[in-house]
Amino acid sequence: MRYKAAIITISDKGSCGERVDTSGPALRDMLKSEFDVGEIVIIPDEVDIIAGTIRQQVDELGTDLIITNGGTGLSKRDVTPEATRMVIEKDLPGFAEVMRAESYKITPTAVISRAICGIRKESIIINLPGSPKAATECLGFIKDALQHALEKLKGSTVDCAR
Ligand code: MTE
Repeated sequence: MRYKAAIITISDKGSCGERVDTSGPALRDMLKSEFDVGEIVIIPDEVDIIAGTIRQQVDELGTDLIITNGGTGLSKRDVTPEATRMVIEKDLPGFAEVMRAESYKITPTAVISRAICGIRKESIIINLPGSPKAATECLGFIKDALQHALEKLKGSTVDCAR
């Protein structure tokens, strides 16, 4: 089954055209062989806009996988995890645990990312850090588990232990 994915780039500078988004296209390149990736949405670091955009992707557009990138750090404008927390119904902690643990082996400052992952309805929301290097590294660590996670979320009864 080919699931629908959306990439939401969260960046004040990107959203007003002051910075070119290279993370979004790099993430799309990593996903496009397995997922139908729609347009990359670029929005500012505003909690209500982020939460509203995720809700719209899930509730109105039926997107199965929502990847956010950016806004997971410690600066005052970084609110992506807070916005994600507002819209998820269940936590999916393993993805963020693996991303931080594997990233730490490459870059110790990776522990700074407060990224969270969770479920809304039958969709998975994954926060990634914003730089192209950080975002693509993190997606690389978890990518192989996404398809199976979505299948299980949507009710597959396939035996995991096969
Ligand atoms: N993760 C990986 N794999 N590689 C990195 O270089 N950079 C970290 C972290 N995660 C990094 C990483 C740094 S320096 C920051 S500040 C945080 O991601 C948060 O980034 P964000 O605010 O752009 O989301």
